[in-house]
Amino acid sequence: MPAASASQLPEGVPTIRVIAMPTDTNPAGDVFGGWIISQMDLAAGTTAAFRANGRAATVAINGVVFLEPVVVGDEVSIYTHITREGRTSMTIHVQTWRRARHTHLTSKVTEGDFTFVALDENRRPRPLPPATPGNSPNSAPTV
Ligand SMILES: CC(C)(COP(=O)(O)OP(=O)(O)OC[C@H]1O[C@@H](n2cnc3c(N)ncnc32)[C@H](O)[C@@H]1OP(=O)(O)O)[C@@H](O)C(=O)NCCC(=O)NCCS
Repeated sequence: MPAASASQLPEGVPTIRVIAMPTDTNPAGDVFGGWIISQMDLAAGTTAAFRANGRAATVAINGVVFLEPVVVGDEVSIYTHITREGRTSMTIHVQTWRRARHTHLTSKVTEGDFTFVALDENRRPRPLPPATPGNSPNSAPTV
């Protein structure tokens, strides 16, 4: 597995980091693509809720590609970056990177675009609040 080069580094804010476990595998023993997408959705949802300052729901997932397998024990890191804002919706580009457990080598394994809609208390679309430094996940605190 190649190390990430300077020209190939994660894009966006580190949002979720998790270890792939045996329960996350498919029948062949590799990590299940659906598990990876669920982690990506969780990460994008975190970013969406922060930007929306409240509830937001996934309305579309587009262009997800699987570039390399993830194996049990990998440290899986999900990065998010808002690439588009509409009236009530936003599109978040999500990248997944893996680090093999005993090495410093990292590589991008998946990416895709997740669109979320800010929702009101009746689960209907509501306008995004104005963007401020305080609610911009692209500069969210990462501690
Ligand atoms: C999200 C939901 C409330 C939107 O309802 P809707 O009647 O389609 O609302 P609208 O037509 O007003 O669209 C709202 C926004 O979503 C966008 N949108 C709707 N369908 C879309 C799609 N397939 N792809 C991208 N954007 C979409 C619209 O362009 C609009 O964006 P804008 O306000 O920024 O211009 C509704 O589709 C829903 O409840 N879906 C289920 C959500 C869910 O359960 N997700 C999984 C768990 S989080």
